[in-house]
Amino acid sequence: MKRTTKRWRASVGAAMAGFGLVAVTALTAQAAGSTLHEAASDQGRYYGTALAQHKLGDSQYTTIADTEFGMITAENEMKLDATEPQQGQFNFSAGDTIVNWALEHGKQVRGHTLAWHSQQPSWMQNMEGSQLRQAMLNHVTQVASHYRGKIYAWDVVNEAFEDGSSGARRNSNLQRTGDDWIEAAFYAAREADPDAKLCYNDYNTDNIQHAKTQAVYNMVRDFKSRGVPIDCVGFQAHFNSGNPVPNNYHETLQAFADLGVDVQITELDIEGWGDSQAEQFSGVTQACLAVSRCTGITVWGVRDSDSWRADGTPLLFDGNGQKKAAYYAVLDMLNSGEGDGGGGETPPPASGEGCTATYSEGEKWNDRFNGTVTVTADESVSSWTATVTVGSSQQIIATWNGSPTWDSSGKVMTMRPNGDGTLAAGQSTSFGFTVMHGGDWSWPSVSCSAA
Ligand code: XIL
Repeated sequence: MKRTTKRWRASVGAAMAGFGLVAVTALTAQAAGSTLHEAASDQGRYYGTALAQHKLGDSQYTTIADTEFGMITAENEMKLDATEPQQGQFNFSAGDTIVNWALEHGKQVRGHTLAWHSQQPSWMQNMEGSQLRQAMLNHVTQVASHYRGKIYAWDVVNEAFEDGSSGARRNSNLQRTGDDWIEAAFYAAREADPDAKLCYNDYNTDNIQHAKTQAVYNMVRDFKSRGVPIDCVGFQAHFNSGNPVPNNYHETLQAFADLGVDVQITELDIEGWGDSQAEQFSGVTQACLAVSRCTGITVWGVRDSDSWRADGTPLLFDGNGQKKAAYYAVLDMLNSGEGDGGGGETPPPASGEGCTATYSEGEKWNDRFNGTVTVTADESVSSWTATVTVGSSQQIIATWNGSPTWDSSGKVMTMRPNGDGTLAAGQSTSFGFTVMHGGDWSWPSVSCSAA
């Protein structure tokens, strides 16, 4: 996964070689952000983490949080049990500590969460019906009002749908107050904090083909059509081997974005280690970059040891605060700006001996995408060869308008002209191919040389 940025930088270097090392270095430095926050900001995105109040005295923890992240979520401190431990008696001290830390360090804040079946205070757990509906709405109003003006986005409602194939609402005390409890919460939140983006947040909603995802999709579509104030959908994105990152993830995000809402990855963690974990983190990052309304990603904790699933080592820093392979994969993907619909840069064309190769995206499907390489002769050439290098999980399965050969890894394709390869100065020719992406939507890297 690191290949993308490195190759891009390398191709910039090659293109600039004639202009000397100084120019190359300057260009390279400009292209790359050195922290997650910086690299995501360059792509018009945020990169965030969840913080726990009781760890704010740990300087390794706060240093990483301050350096790497631009968006903060309170891991537990703004939930219902924390903020309204007794009915009508609000306690914002732990939440305020996190929000103040974030704002003092120049961060934005995601509010999590106003209405949820879980982590309810015991008085609320025992409540039903109209009494509960009123109590819930009062909670939304009081908490959103307290934090008014300080919150980038609120998870107004969390986890309201059932897992599995039913597509039903989760049977909770809140649901039993009536189907319209979700929109009622959104209306109350809008009134209390008109400037915060209001999100619906859930897990296991990463594959657009799954019943739960479709149920949430249908609700959001219905809300948009009826003017219910919803601005965004949060995808918790807790992944593990039983629930891997689906290879249509960016399509899922795009489908929601197409309803007219922002999408955000709100609680990302991926159990695992090493290259496989790194590739999955990279794929999630790329899926967000590919969707212009994917405004940012939050990982659910700083170090593996801080995670609610610490045994699964699912985060970007290890227990000693060291950057993991997954960290570098995310940073590289952010710096590559690949597949971007949101302000990313297109990689410069790779210029070799006598010709320039330019990659352009073609059609995309669930499992594969098409690409085209245009070879342009810098001067008149009698023939050319182009190379296309794909990622480790990618496989070229078809080509057209050229004669391919392959290296032993099967990842580097050398393309030669079908027949006559003569090109006049400035003249172009194109060939195309189909890539099975295996979850990796990265653009292949391309180069060419001419004779
Ligand atoms: C988790 C916290 O990380 C834990 O500390 C706590 O014990 C339980 O909740 N979905 C959510 C988050 O929306 O609030 C949850 O956070 C993880 C799953």
